[in-house]
Amino acid sequence: MKGIVAFDSVYGNTLKVAEAIAEELRGQGQEIEVIDLGKRIPRGAEADFAFIGSPTRMTKMTGRTKRFLRRLRKEHWSGHTIVAFDTVLKLPEDPEKRARSAKWTEDGAGPKIRAFAEERGMKVHPEVLRAEVVGMKGPLAPDALDKSREFARRVIRDLH
Ligand SMILES: Cc1cc2nc3c(=O)[nH]c(=O)nc-3n(C[C@H](O)[C@H](O)[C@H](O)COP(=O)(O)O)c2cc1C
Repeated sequence: MKGIVAFDSVYGNTLKVAEAIAEELRGQGQEIEVIDLGKRIPRGAEADFAFIGSPTRMTKMTGRTKRFLRRLRKEHWSGHTIVAFDTVLKLPEDPEKRARSAKWTEDGAGPKIRAFAEERGMKVHPEVLRAEVVGMKGPLAPDALDKSREFARRVIRDLH
């Protein structure tokens, strides 16, 4: 199958997640086009499936990601799956700090990408990949890329 991995990234963390997903999918025999939304936001991108990701900023996706989603044709994507992913802050271990931070991480770019696509009648994968960063600008948590690859492998099996 032909697939798209489209992402936005400010500090490079979501870029790394997108690259890991693309590499895994190619390893599984998929033909993958990677689209960096910081460089171009294509109109009406089409493929058999798309992974779409953004950093979580103020619990939202970036404006570029939303613009890309708005430009997708519902007629095509109602029959081809969109898979959402994001990067999100890892919650602290301390229960009190954890409770305070949770409102910034429970919702986020990934869940919003999924909801936005679904509301517009596009077909979405139920699961959202949330790759964790350990600071406001990263880096990624040590297991984030392995989890991203594993997610991509699992999802592509489901899509067959
Ligand atoms: C202005 C700003 C707002 C942010 N807001 C959130 C947030 O609401 N929730 C969260 O989990 N992380 C938040 N973060 C951390 C980002 O998730 C982190 O910068 C991002 O995952 C890095 O991805 P990137 O390197 O691809 O830009 C914020 C970071 C910045 C700079």
